[in-house]
Amino acid sequence: MMNEPQFITIEGIEGVGKSTQCALLAKALNQNYAVEIELTREPGGTKLGEAIRSIVLDPDLPSMTGHAELLLMFAARAEHLSKVIRPALSKGRWVICDRFTDATYAYQGGGRELDNAAIVLLEKLVQSGLTPELTILLDIDVEVALRRLMMRGTTDRFEGEQRGFFERVRASYLNLAENHPNRIVVIDGSPKEGVVHESILSVVRERLF
Ligand code: TMP
Repeated sequence: MMNEPQFITIEGIEGVGKSTQCALLAKALNQNYAVEIELTREPGGTKLGEAIRSIVLDPDLPSMTGHAELLLMFAARAEHLSKVIRPALSKGRWVICDRFTDATYAYQGGGRELDNAAIVLLEKLVQSGLTPELTILLDIDVEVALRRLMMRGTTDRFEGEQRGFFERVRASYLNLAENHPNRIVVIDGSPKEGVVHESILSVVRERLF
């Protein structure tokens, strides 16, 4: 078994079931492999990060500029890396993070159509070379995801976006997976949650153990 603590991220559009899968993966790794897990999310994971999360998801703030949104995501990430992610890895804990910088490329780069150069710059500044070892991209048809969201009922500032926005986000995610085949593994997010969980677990076993 690999002793190095691992940094795993799970990505995908709204409604794909990321958060459920993060929790299932954390539980399975802890129970089956006695791995200590830090389960966290972005934006969020720290007091400041969660406060930033409330701001960026607030549907009553629809007029935020793309750059303001981008900088808030990286402000939350800087805090998260310094107070949660790096300390956990240095204590030997594995980090499972519900979204990370791929979400910025997909949502701010793809969805909001901001220039990727700004994201590249901020990624270098904030992460100083730290990237996930493995990223699971849960992929799903936008139509199916939007139907699931409608059933959930609540709508935050992103969930209120139009179909075209989510099509751009999904396309950017798939493009990232093509450009980073060694790090990003695409898994079909449409089957039942137990089936998706088994697929994720087998990728993690194969790649990290
Ligand atoms: P969720 O992870 O609970 O779905 O909500 C977080 C929202 O924040 C989601 O709509 C994606 C968005 N987001 C970005 O736009 N950029 C980012 O860098 C991150 C981490 C999230």
